[in-house]
Amino acid sequence: MKKRRGYIVAGNWKMNKTAAEAVELARGVVREWGNAAGVEVVLCPPFTALEAVARILKDSPVLLGAQNMHPAGSGAYTGEVSAQMLRSFQVSHVILGHSERREYFAESDAFINEKVLTALGNGLKPILCVGETLPQRDQGDTLGVVDAQVRGGLKQVTGEEAENLVIAYEPIWAIGTGKTATPRMAQEVHASIRGILVDLFGSALADKIRIQYGGSMKPGNAAELLLQPDIDGGLIGGASLEVESFTGIIEAAKAR
Ligand code: 13P
Repeated sequence: MKKRRGYIVAGNWKMNKTAAEAVELARGVVREWGNAAGVEVVLCPPFTALEAVARILKDSPVLLGAQNMHPAGSGAYTGEVSAQMLRSFQVSHVILGHSERREYFAESDAFINEKVLTALGNGLKPILCVGETLPQRDQGDTLGVVDAQVRGGLKQVTGEEAENLVIAYEPIWAIGTGKTATPRMAQEVHASIRGILVDLFGSALADKIRIQYGGSMKPGNAAELLLQPDIDGGLIGGASLEVESFTGIIEAAKAR
């Protein structure tokens, strides 16, 4: 049975691809996946390739996302990029609170919340990332950690804005490790995130918000994850860097 919420599959290219390489990859995705019927596809290249990739995606249904953003409108924030700068490149989505930013750049839930509010206020759709470390999972803290991240990241978000949210559950121990959460483990966390969204926004809205899974998703394991009732797509790292593996995951979503 098709889900009422359409699937959303996004490629997080992280700090990979020069502008020229990014163009080649984006062209390949558009060539193989020019018709995104039934699946929303988003490419998130590094900032330096946004403009070049925007030109490739212009006449295709494939959407453009960024990997980060500063909450301020403008000013003395050396090295940072604002929501309006992203908007000027036709960026529709922005990944916020990725575990790599939480870990290496000490981003807190409060700071991520500021970014979420700025993104929504500027017409960008945040992909809010949450997920636990292995020690947290082993101690049975997964649901508590994720609860705090979701509630912390979504403070003051209104019901009207909530429809534009995407949440990505990415267990940190599964990122880039080849270890994937089993469909059951992932579904348990996704269902609990759905419960938090019901609590925050009511069930009609919560039912519309897509929750992606991320962490070593590949063409070979995508189908069984996407079959879970609360898994509405994927946020793909490594497998998004090659046309074949990325489009293989999109195909798996399309077939659901
Ligand atoms: P991998 O798909 O490489 O595990 O990365 C997942 C991720 O962090 C996407 O944001």
